[in-house]
Amino acid sequence: MTTDRQDDVNSDISGLSRRDVLKGGTALGVLAVTGIDSHALAQIGNPSLPAAFRTEIEVSFRVNGDRSSLALDPRSSLLDVLRDQLGLTGAKKGCDHGQCGACTVHVDGRRVASCMTLAVQIDDLDITTIEGLSEGDDLHPMQQAFIDHDALQCGYCTPGQIMAGVACVREEHAGSPQQIREYMSGNLCRCGAYPGIVAAIADAARAMEG
Ligand code: FES
Ligand code: FES
Repeated sequence: MTTDRQDDVNSDISGLSRRDVLKGGTALGVLAVTGIDSHALAQIGNPSLPAAFRTEIEVSFRVNGDRSSLALDPRSSLLDVLRDQLGLTGAKKGCDHGQCGACTVHVDGRRVASCMTLAVQIDDLDITTIEGLSEGDDLHPMQQAFIDHDALQCGYCTPGQIMAGVACVREEHAGSPQQIREYMSGNLCRCGAYPGIVAAIADAARAMEG
């Protein structure tokens, strides 16, 4: 289940919601079952077809400062585009349903569950992934704090925890361990490294704000 905060963030990224895009797909499905223009539908993807029948949408965005322009299936999630098309595998696919936070990245500085974000929603926006958090060889204070506090075991959830932790501090939601636990509740850790994670975020908050 997505949290209200995740839903707000994901729906606010652009005027185009996941529901809007799926409605578009449904309209094509209606055409198919009614037999209207079935020949055109059979050629979906053909660039010579009218725009309304194409399945790819041009999307241009920046990832970790680098501009990318891709023709994307409108059903592609941001997570799949990052991992499969851009080779940025730091964001992890845990549940693929907005329930675990392993896929957390920043869109224009706000944390989102990238598995629940359609890539077409990020047109002309700035994406930051765990790969873009450090400054060269200098780790971000949150990355260093996770190391210092041994805030991981298997590490699968860690990129998402770190990206969410950075956002948590920037949102000024890291004022106490209780507040950190509340605002990090969308990021699950199957290894139960929560004490270290909370301590790391509290520590990093001091470094980031200092
Ligand atoms: S993989 Fe996105 S929330 Fe679990
Ligand atoms: S460190 Fe293993 S899931 Fe969090």
